[in-house]
Amino acid sequence: MDNVIIFDTTLRDGEQAAGAMLNIQEKLEIAKQLERLGVDVIEAGFPASSPGDFEAVKLIAREVRYSSICALTHANAKAIDTAWEAVKEAMRPRIHVFLSTSDIHMAHQLKKNRDEVMSLAVEMVKRARSYTDDVEFSPMDASRTDPEFLHAIVQATIEAGATTVNIPDTVGYAIPEEFGKLIRGIFENVPNADKAVISVHCHNDLGLAVANSLEAVRQGARQVECTVNGIGERAGNASMEEIVMALKTRKDFFYLTTRIDTTQIYPSSRLVSERTGFPVQPNKAIVGHNAFRHQSGIHQDGIIKQAITYEIIDPKDVGIPASSLVLGKLSGRHAFRERLAELGYTLNEEDLNRAFVAFKELADKKKEVTDRDIESLVAQEMRTVSEVYHLDHIQVSCGDHSVPTATVRLIGPRGEVFADAALGTGPVDAVYKAINRIIGVPNRLTEFTVSSVTAGIDAIGEVLIRIESDGVTYTGRGSATDIIVASARAYMNALNRLLAAKGRRSA
Ligand code: KIV
Ligand code: ZN
Repeated sequence: MDNVIIFDTTLRDGEQAAGAMLNIQEKLEIAKQLERLGVDVIEAGFPASSPGDFEAVKLIAREVRYSSICALTHANAKAIDTAWEAVKEAMRPRIHVFLSTSDIHMAHQLKKNRDEVMSLAVEMVKRARSYTDDVEFSPMDASRTDPEFLHAIVQATIEAGATTVNIPDTVGYAIPEEFGKLIRGIFENVPNADKAVISVHCHNDLGLAVANSLEAVRQGARQVECTVNGIGERAGNASMEEIVMALKTRKDFFYLTTRIDTTQIYPSSRLVSERTGFPVQPNKAIVGHNAFRHQSGIHQDGIIKQAITYEIIDPKDVGIPASSLVLGKLSGRHAFRERLAELGYTLNEEDLNRAFVAFKELADKKKEVTDRDIESLVAQEMRTVSEVYHLDHIQVSCGDHSVPTATVRLIGPRGEVFADAALGTGPVDAVYKAINRIIGVPNRLTEFTVSSVTAGIDAIGEVLIRIESDGVTYTGRGSATDIIVASARAYMNALNRLLAAKGRRSA
């Protein structure tokens, strides 16, 4: 069976999704999880786009050893040099050069004709090749490019040294049959197509990114570019978990394999959702909360008799742990550690200790601590690791005949203790105002969502917020059995991200 290369662009195209800003430590954490997942190539960022992206690619290139690390660059000599500077310490560095080739983009955006685009593409691929023998070229907006010109530029860039040529459906315009034909056309019309890996990169504007990618693979593409949970620019990219599981579940149809350790799919999905602040929709294939839940009586009956009746994938295969053990207040450290490991967490001693203390506090409030509770609890603990200000204490008073009042105490970056109080229109407003009086960074709340992790009155509440400052959106999440505390934690999380980003910018 042939192998399909999985090229993950969660940290580049995925991070381009509006509101998905990741800091450098979060990018490294996700990169390490992608390595554990077994992705062949990690597109770690676009180094010329910002100093933050440059630093992130450099760090990931140094720290990740098993996956190739790819740096994206537009077709500009200085940007290619910057991409190389960022990625050169990787064990297997790749430079990915892109340049638009559709008449629409060439006329309205690049203001260049076909000859100019052709010679620039060739020159820039050669420049990238002077640094590394792993060079990818993407004719951007390929699905709306004149096929003849596309064939010519694919041929020329392979001659110039591109080892992978990626065919992007940049605006998610293609239909599977048509996109498959485009890929087949490349093999039929480009004489040196077999000298490079033909790759695809599909966007989901019409909800067809996965279908287009799979059809491309059927027509001979051997690299698929995708993201965890399908996040990405606009409607997102092809979803990694859907591509991988379609190839695995229907290998009788595709006769293709990937190197992905599918048991790492669910932990990867949770991590990306948590760090980007994008919840996974409940009915999302493979990783959604309902993906393996059976509601209908007939289906439940079938599942009890034989899972294959209504389940085409064993949830364990994608890393969704079977909840055999429910933890409670009598559970010890060993059982807690075991459960964490089954859920895919490997915490160091210090983090484990903190998580265990939080678990004991939760178990005192809740009779049964479920896997989702543990995930929420670990996520909350991890959020506090790189805080500038820490929420030490909050107290609120509210009711239908009183003015909501909040008192907060924060610990500052050098251990200073700050306390203040404020009135608000409601308890959350009062808490946010009290925090603002201490931290004093202007921002605007643009989104506030509360959800409950499990059913039941004692459930953990999770709060997701977004705030905007100087045109940049910062996401914050917080969880607690008390939703006012969860709201305060979410706000502190967003503010800490904002402060860290501002600190990096002024450094
Ligand atoms: O969608 C696109 O065309 C891209 C390229 C940079 C590959 O993201
Ligand atoms: Zn893209």
